[in-house]
Amino acid sequence: MSLASVVRSEEKLLLPTYDRHRVLFEKGRGVYLWDSRGNRYLDFLSGIGVNALGQAHPAIQKILKRQAGRLIHVSNLFFHEYQAELAKRLTRISGLDRAFFSNSGTEAWEGALKLARIYARTKNTNGHRPKWRILALDNSFHGRTFGSLATTGQAKYRDPFVPLLPGVGFVRFNDVEDLKHQFDAGVCAICVETIQGEGGICPVSPEFLQMARKLTESNDALLILDEIQCGLGRTGRYFAYQHYGVQPDIVTVAKPLAAGLPLGAILTTNRVAMSMQRGMHGTTFGGGPLACAVAIEFLRLLDELLDHVGHVGSYFQEQLEGLKARHDCIREVRGMGLMLGLELESADTAKKMVSVLLQNGILINRTHETVLRFLPPYIIREKHVDEVIRALDSALTSSASKARRGQLLRLKKRSQQTKESR
Ligand SMILES: Cc1ncc(COP(=O)(O)O)c(C=O)c1O
Repeated sequence: MSLASVVRSEEKLLLPTYDRHRVLFEKGRGVYLWDSRGNRYLDFLSGIGVNALGQAHPAIQKILKRQAGRLIHVSNLFFHEYQAELAKRLTRISGLDRAFFSNSGTEAWEGALKLARIYARTKNTNGHRPKWRILALDNSFHGRTFGSLATTGQAKYRDPFVPLLPGVGFVRFNDVEDLKHQFDAGVCAICVETIQGEGGICPVSPEFLQMARKLTESNDALLILDEIQCGLGRTGRYFAYQHYGVQPDIVTVAKPLAAGLPLGAILTTNRVAMSMQRGMHGTTFGGGPLACAVAIEFLRLLDELLDHVGHVGSYFQEQLEGLKARHDCIREVRGMGLMLGLELESADTAKKMVSVLLQNGILINRTHETVLRFLPPYIIREKHVDEVIRALDSALTSSASKARRGQLLRLKKRSQQTKESR
């Protein structure tokens, strides 16, 4: 099928939710993808943080084939051998005790919110004022379902769908005083993305996270961290919170967990988990044997990749800083490990960069209007970083000289008009 015919069919048949680039991908291997015209692309987005092992990883293919031939799905009414094994690995690396498996990030987040509410309700046995308020952060993103939207601090996602879940307050990002001001005994949870992804690659400050931990701990409220984008090795540690020395009560993960298959998880402590009772939460597909078997393999491979992510991430960050020194239109380099962002002075330039890089066979994307987002697979090497830096350097140089030419032309025109009007 050609790109044109796919575009025509989608326009007729799908909800018009996506503004896709006009590229039809057909295959991938490692850090590369190929489109229907045979063009090769270097992938620095990895399906928005999903394909951490790149495409067609031989070990993942092997597990997929083996498990597809054995057992793809059983209902959560029965046991299979992989959920407990996967939970054992996730709890070991997170320092938490128990897991619940979902299909996606937003479902993991919904479950985390339910857990916070039920924990508060279970604790409230002596007639205290019920805790049910939730504090989330400005600029955050937690997903597209209603609970997630309600805790997402960006009007463009929320406003078309109001009214949302009540009881959610938004704290200014990294504003410790605002957090203290808004927190009271009615709050059951503080929700934080350790590094905001859709909000423009913004790491939470250590002071803010420590204050969130202190307030929740001393009031029997919960600290919930969304590590759906920044967790599971993306920053060079298993979890981004491990850079801060802060332990959450609940953490949510998803994107890379099953190397491209849909799988999310809520991880929590025994104390919190035991407030859920049978029948209070569940899912048909979440935690199926195929996705769980693959996730176990992903975590096994991740052990050997963490140091590499740290090293290549630092190299990438240094190169981006070098680029910033050469180009006035770059405002800031942000992020950790292989979750990096380059904030540019204008949304237009950022848009142009994504499209010029795409024409040059490099996949990145733009988030929060002005931020170029890099979420490459964990298996990239320095030579891949160099290729992206070279492409950005030349695209930014030519965009700046075009802008200068335009400015000169406008000045020339204006002085001509002034002369003529004299
Ligand atoms: C931090 C964060 N939370 C939640 C989500 C929602 O995940 P999903 O799209 O799998 O529902 C995303 C997705 O981008 C995310 O980045």
